[in-house]
Amino acid sequence: MHAKRIFAIVAVSTLLLGWSGTRVLAADTSAVKGDYMNFCARCHGPTGQGDGPAAASLSPRPRNFTDCATMKKISDDTLFKAIKNGGASVGLSASMPGWSTAFDDSEIKDLVTFIRGFCH
Ligand code: HEC
Repeated sequence: MHAKRIFAIVAVSTLLLGWSGTRVLAADTSAVKGDYMNFCARCHGPTGQGDGPAAASLSPRPRNFTDCATMKKISDDTLFKAIKNGGASVGLSASMPGWSTAFDDSEIKDLVTFIRGFCH
């Protein structure tokens, strides 16, 4: 019984570590990374370059989060609003959906921090 439980814990940890690659991420970082990979990467790309599989058919293209000169000019408030209420709410493309029903404000803040992370 006890051994079984330890085995389960080890198995789950191995899975989680495998999923996040060689880096060991804090729990909250993994959650936001998962959100990004599941919901944003298909357009913005897994490495934030705006080159996800769904990006090719979009005009304008999804924001390239690694374009640091451009990203520097955009405030956190604007990024937050674009994610929460969609691109059109900040004068951008309506192809950028709003996520207010998918994420709460703290999750959206984590997403803003996460996409800022593409520029160090
Ligand atoms: C269907 C494709 C699509 C998906 C999915 C998508 N985006 Fe976007 N995103 C866009 C497009 C298109 C734009 C607008 C680009 C423009 O108008 O220049 C945009 C713009 C943005 C902006 C605004 C950048 C700025 O210049 O102010 C942010 C922030 C953003 N997306 C974050 C996200 C996040 C976070 C997710 C996942 C929760 C996500 N996007 C999912 C297509 C997408």
